[in-house]
Amino acid sequence: MTNSTPIADRVAVVTGAGAGLGAAIVRRLAADGARVVVSDIDIDAARGVADTIDGAIAVEADVTDENQIKALVEQTVDHFGALHIAVPNAGVGGVQPIAEMSYADWRRTTAVNLDGVFLTIRHTAPAIAAAGGGSIVTISSITATAGSPLIAPYAASKAAVRNLTETAATEFRDHGVRVNAVLPGFIDTELVTAARPDFEAALGLEPGGFDELMAAKQGRYGTPDEVAAAVAFFASDESSWCTGSSLVLDGGLAASLF
Ligand SMILES: NC(=O)c1ccc[n+]([C@@H]2O[C@H](COP(=O)([O-])OP(=O)(O)OC[C@H]3O[C@@H](n4cnc5c(N)ncnc54)[C@H](O)[C@@H]3O)[C@@H](O)[C@H]2O)c1
Repeated sequence: MTNSTPIADRVAVVTGAGAGLGAAIVRRLAADGARVVVSDIDIDAARGVADTIDGAIAVEADVTDENQIKALVEQTVDHFGALHIAVPNAGVGGVQPIAEMSYADWRRTTAVNLDGVFLTIRHTAPAIAAAGGGSIVTISSITATAGSPLIAPYAASKAAVRNLTETAATEFRDHGVRVNAVLPGFIDTELVTAARPDFEAALGLEPGGFDELMAAKQGRYGTPDEVAAAVAFFASDESSWCTGSSLVLDGGLAASLF
C-alpha cells in the first residue's frame, strides 16, 4: 500500500519549533507524513512539542552557534538516515526606535534572524543535496517589504532573509534543493504578545489599540496553521517548480496604502 501524504517519510528539521509558528509547522509537516526534528534553544519547549508527535525527536540548538547547527544536522542524519526539508524558523522580536538602539541590541536581533538563517541554510542544504534533493522554506515577514518603524533590525533582517533565499535558490538549484520564503503578516504568537505593550506605548495607543490597528490593516491576526499550510506547500513536490519565490500571507496588509 502506498502512503499518499504529500511528504511521506521525508525528514524535516524546524528551528525555533518549541512554540508559535515553528510548533505549528512541525505538527503540519508530521501530519503530512514527514519524520520531524523539533529544534529549539529551549529544549524543554522542544520536548513538549516532540512528545505530542509520533516518532519526533527534540534537539537543542541555538541557531547563532555554528557548532550547534552542525550537530543538529549530524544528529538528524544519524537518527533518521537523511535530511530532506529544513525550515529556519527561529526568530526574535523587540520594539525600539533606531535613536535609542545600541549596537548590541541591533546585533542581538540580526544574529538570530539573519545569521541564524544563513547558518541553517549553510549546513542543511548540503545534507539535503546529499539525500537526493528537497526543500528549504525560510520565514521572512511582510516587514521585509517596507519600512517598519520601531523594529528596524527585525525588518532589515527579514528583508535580508528574503534576498538570501533568492541567492540560495540559485546556488543550490542544480543540487536539487529548492529554497522559498513565506512572508507572513502579524500572527498572535508570543513574539507579538511581548511586543504589543511596547508598540502601544511608542505609538500612543490605548491598551488594545494595537489589536485594533491590526484588525484594520489585516482584517484579523493570521494563525500559525495558516503559515504552516504555506510552508507545507513549499516543502512538498506540489511546488516542484518554485524556487527563489516568496509567498505573502497578510490579509491584504501590504496590498493597500489605506
Ligand atoms: N508572529 C508573527 O507575527 C510573525 C510574522 C512574520 C514572521 N514571523 C517569524 O516567524 C518565526 C517564528 O516566530 P513566532 O511568532 O513563532 O515566535 P515565538 O517567539 O512564538 O517563537 C520563537 C521560538 O524560537 C526560539 N528561539 C529564539 N531564539 C532562538 C535561537 N537563538 N535558536 C533557536 N531557537 C530560538 C524560541 O525559544 C521560541 O520557541 C520568526 O522567525 C518570526 O520572525 C513571525
